[in-house]
Amino acid sequence: MAKNPSAYLLFLAILVLATATSSSAQILPPFSTLPSVLPNSTIVAQVQALGVLSCTVTGTPIPFVPSPPVVGALVNLSCDGGRTTLAQAVTNTAGFYNVTLNVVQGLLFNTTDCALFVDLPLVNCTVFPPRGVLRTPLGVLTIVPGLLGNILVLIGQIFSVIGV
Ligand SMILES: *[C@@H]1O[C@H](CO)[C@@H](O)[C@H](O)[C@H]1NC(C)=O
Ligand SMILES: *[C@@H]1O[C@H](CO)[C@@H](O)[C@H](O)[C@H]1NC(C)=O
Ligand SMILES: *[C@@H]1O[C@H](CO)[C@@H](O)[C@H](O)[C@H]1NC(C)=O
Ligand SMILES: *[C@@H]1O[C@H](CO)[C@@H](O)[C@H](O)[C@H]1NC(C)=O
Ligand SMILES: *[C@@H]1O[C@H](CO)[C@@H](O)[C@H](O)[C@H]1NC(C)=O
Repeated sequence: MAKNPSAYLLFLAILVLATATSSSAQILPPFSTLPSVLPNSTIVAQVQALGVLSCTVTGTPIPFVPSPPVVGALVNLSCDGGRTTLAQAVTNTAGFYNVTLNVVQGLLFNTTDCALFVDLPLVNCTVFPPRGVLRTPLGVLTIVPGLLGNILVLIGQIFSVIGV
């Protein structure tokens, strides 16, 4: 699975979008390729960090492995290692999260150090230790032009336990 991170990211992206579609009637951004770096000149008006939190060793759905959703978990977006929470969301009944942050217009938003953080323990999930924090880096799924500027759609990847 770790052999080809971009293929796995693509798999997660499709899965997340499928989960999002089935749990909401919203129109999804057009799916494109996955750039690894955000162009320096991209002015971002909104950041959306999407994903599915599952009770598995990776914290994400794994193909052909039972991957029960983690429901009602608080997901924090932070770009300084978890010290400052910029936005947060709670996972829905499908484990889907959508952490949305409106960025002050005209600011360059540097996502290099941005990640998602979830406090342990998770309700009804004993895969992880009872203490600590789950952290996942974010991949750039797509950049969509919006009314007020670009919408940067990020996707959560593999969670690891930190700060135990
Ligand atoms: C962003 O800017 C830095 C220095 O200004 C440069 O080294 C880097 O290649 C640029 N990255 C992109 C994706 O344009
Ligand atoms: C984004 O942040 C990283 C790490 O702090 C830094 O190395 C990089 O130069 C920054 N990029 C821009 C475009 O400011
Ligand atoms: C945890 O499991 C119990 C028993 O199955 C269920 O009633 C409860 O809704 C679950 N809570 C969450 C947050 O999934
Ligand atoms: C995420 O939330 C934003 C803001 O509410 C919304 O515009 C967007 O459609 C949502 N994305 C998904 C995939 O549900
Ligand atoms: C998430 O943010 C809340 C504040 O809204 C904070 O109490 C909690 O400790 C944060 N958790 C993590 C893992 O960053």
